[in-house]
Parts: sequence; C-alpha cells; structure tokens
Amino acid sequence: MLAMALFFCACAAYWLWRRMHRKPTEPPYYPWWCPILGHTPIFLWHCRNLWNGVNEIANQVHDMGGVVTASIGLRTYYVLTDPDDISTVANTCLHKEDLYEFGKPFLGEGLVTAKLPIWKNHRKLLNPAFNQSVLDTFMGVFNSQSRKLVRELEKEAGKGPFDHWAYTRVNALESIFLTALGVDSTDTDLNLTEYVEALKTTLATFLERFAKFWWHSPYTFAFSGLKRRQDASIKILHNVSNTVLQKRKSEFEGNVSAEKKTKFKAFLDLILELSAENGAFNDREIREQVDTIIFGGHDTGANVLMYTMLLLGSHPEAQEKAFSEIQEVLGDGDRDVEKADLSKLVYLEAVLKESMRMFTIVPVLSRKLDRDVKLRNCTLSAGTPCFLFLFAIHKHPMWGPDVHEFKPERWLEPGRLPDNPNAFATFSFGRRMCIGKTYALMSMKTTLAHVIRNYLITADLTKLSLKMDVMVKPDSGHYVSIEKRM
Ligand code: HEM
Repeated sequence: MLAMALFFCACAAYWLWRRMHRKPTEPPYYPWWCPILGHTPIFLWHCRNLWNGVNEIANQVHDMGGVVTASIGLRTYYVLTDPDDISTVANTCLHKEDLYEFGKPFLGEGLVTAKLPIWKNHRKLLNPAFNQSVLDTFMGVFNSQSRKLVRELEKEAGKGPFDHWAYTRVNALESIFLTALGVDSTDTDLNLTEYVEALKTTLATFLERFAKFWWHSPYTFAFSGLKRRQDASIKILHNVSNTVLQKRKSEFEGNVSAEKKTKFKAFLDLILELSAENGAFNDREIREQVDTIIFGGHDTGANVLMYTMLLLGSHPEAQEKAFSEIQEVLGDGDRDVEKADLSKLVYLEAVLKESMRMFTIVPVLSRKLDRDVKLRNCTLSAGTPCFLFLFAIHKHPMWGPDVHEFKPERWLEPGRLPDNPNAFATFSFGRRMCIGKTYALMSMKTTLAHVIRNYLITADLTKLSLKMDVMVKPDSGHYVSIEKRM
C-alpha cells in the first residue's frame, strides 16, 4: 500500500515538474488531462469506438490552432492537424514513433516499421521495384484480376445488398501475389479468406494494446491474453508469407540466368537477386519485406475500392458520369484497359481522389522527433513523439463549405481545389511516403473501370458507421447492391 502511494506521489511530482519546466514555445496542453493517467481516460471512454474519439480530438485540436501537447500515461505526445505543420514534421523527421514497435511481431524491420538506418538502406534498394516500367508490366494482371472480380460478383447481381468488401479484399490479395511477389496463390494451398480474417484480428490487437497503456511495455504485454491472441493470428499470416516465399525462391533459384535479362524487376525478384548477388537481405529480412508488401499492398487498395463503390452507389449522377467516360475511352466492347487509357479516365481519377479524401484509410501516422522542429506558431521539442492526423487535413475548412460532400468535380475545375500543396495527404508526405502510390492508382482505376462498365451499383452511405483498426474500416452497413448492365 505504502509502495503504491509512493509510486503515485512520484508520478504526480514528475508531472508537476514536467509541466513547470515546459518551454513557453511548446504547443498548449489538450484539455481534460488527469494526473498519472494523462489523457488515457479519453481513449478508454472511446474504447468501443476509438474512431469517434479521434474525430472529437481532431476538432478540438483544430480549434486550438492545429497543434497540442497530450499524454498517454506518463508519455508526452504532440497531436497535429494543421496541413503545413504536418508536412513540416513528416519531411523533417523520418523516425517512426515507438508505437510502431507494436507492429514488429508481424512486420519486423519491413519498410513501414523499420528503424531509420535500416529503412534508408532498404528503401533505396527497393525503389526500383516500383519504377513505372515495372508497373506497366502489371497491366495484364490488373485486367485479368478485374475480370475475375467481375465474374465473382455475378452471383450477387440482382440479389440485393451484400458485403462487397469480402470480394475486393481477396481479389487485391491475389493481385499483390501475382504482381509484386510473382506467385499465383491459386497454385498453392493458401487459404486467403483465413489470411484476411487473421489480419483483421492482428490489427485489432494493435489498437487494443495502444488504448490500454499498461500493455505498452513488452514485459506486461508478454503475460496478457491479448498477446496470445495476437501470436496465434500472426502465425497464420507468417505461414502464408513463408509459403509464398519458398515457392518463389525455388522458382528463382532454378531460373537465375533467365531472370537476369530484364533491367527492372518486380519486388520479390529484386530482393532475391540483391540477396543472391551481395547478401543485401538475410532470410528474416526478406520475410519481413514480403509481409510488409502483402499487408500494405492489398488492405489499402481493397479498402479504397470498397468505399468508392459505396460512394458511387450513393451518388448515381457521379456513377453515370464515370460510366459515360469509360464508354467513351474504352468503347462499347469488353476490351482490356490499356496503360494509355488510364490518363484519359480523368473523371474516374477524380472519383478515386475524392473517395480517398472523404475516407482517409490511413488516418493517423506517428513520427519521433530527432531534433527541435519549428512550426508556424510553436516549436516541438526533440525526443517527443508526434501523431499526424492525416484525415483532419482532408476535413480542413480550406476545402470549402462543401468539405463533407462527395464532389469529384472539385478535382477537375481550376480554382476549386485548395491553394495549398499539403491539402491532399492520403499517401503521406516526403521521403517516407507510400512506395506503392502509382501501383495503387493504376490497379484501382483498372478495377473500377471493369466493375462500373459491367454493373450498376446502388448503396446507402447513410447506414455506414466506421471504426479504427490502424486503418479506418466500416463497422457495419458497408453493403451495396449490383445489377448487370449488359
Ligand atoms: C490507396 C492505397 C494506398 C494508400 C492510401 C496508402 C497509404 C500509405 C501511407 C499513408 C503510408 C505511410 C505510412 C506511415 O508512414 O506509417 C504508406 C506507406 C507504405 N505503403 Fe502505402 N498506401 C496505399 C497502397 C499501397 C500499395 C498498393 C503498396 C504496395 C504495393 C503500398 C506499400 C507501402 C509501403 C511498403 C509503405 C512504407 C513506405 C516506407 O516507409 O518507405 N501501399 N502507404
């Protein structure tokens, strides 16, 4: 009892000391702070729906000038919603925050979670795998996978509302295997539905650990039931990446001389080649990069497609415009989408961008400051982690009074977009931004073109409620209905 009392006194004294020694240039404190727990009660209060809590915080931070100081337990954080300040931090500090350690049992030192020195080396080596000439070779797969999705959706046509996300997720997963990893998952015994379920559980365990600060320490977490649940789901995920890796590795080893003929290589072939030639990646590092690319390469695009179909189903006039454009560019037949068509599908691109603005699927990033960073109205202190609320950028008043409305036209009319280069942040900013941006846009555009020319989509967006599991996902009501067009 005495030890407990002493502990609480020590914590309270530490906090008092910290608050008294704050530099006057630091951002203001977020309200509702309580001793020892900091702002944890806010997260606990919103535990059932963290996304609602995060939105409330964003509104308050915006009203307080776009940058605040907050704390979870004894740890201090900055929270940023201002576009220019977020861009400054993302461009200046490339260190990921310690919370990314939660993802390491799954992703290890893959690009998303890697410590800075490892990331610098590996990102430089892997950039060529996303070169335009490599991505162009994927158009055949993007088309055949889109046709497969259209075929699979047929059983839902005319039958009322269904969960289309179940289809887009598995389809995007197969696509990333076929393109970046060079493996046909249908040739293996892999259970992709089990993979997406295990991923859902794994991401939920990361969030639960974040909301409950007493599990932040690896020592307390090691004894929790949450860790046992996480270990079981990660085992399923690693089983898939190991199977894929072994398959491609044996094909690669039997085919080394033929593989060397092309200048630019797909992701896994590039890693295997660099490893064979100069040991750039060891076996563990290869597996971690494979896990990262499977995760980053499918859950993201599948989500955006799911939201876009919901939006188009709820906005028939936008869907008809997209359909007319597709007819105009591709003609009445059923030909493949070619690379040259992509730049002509301008309305479709506007639809996708507007969808990604309205639903910022990676809503929050975090970085650790390795130096003091001067922002517009305050200075952030080195060593403190920052939460960058990307989604708040897309709800900023600079988007105009119709900020909450789905208006693809805003991307096409000069003068309707905000006059700020940091206004659109879906893929993050700076050198640590998404490596798969062009891949994502090419594959999503191709898929949507096939789906829209085949089906008339209807949906009711008003029924959508959202939750957070690292990304923003539908909680319920993410259903669409489709009718065959021809
Ligand atoms: C619409 C789709 C996508 C969105 C919105 C998106 C968004 C993002 C964001 C916001 C980040 C920064 C994450 C952070 O700093 O914590 C990121 C990083 C990353 N993304 Fe994407 N992404 C998408 C598609 C893809 C695809 C298709 C791939 C791979 C084929 C991919 C691979 C990655 C990787 C490897 C990173 C880590 C980059 C690094 O730190 O060097 N992403 N993505």
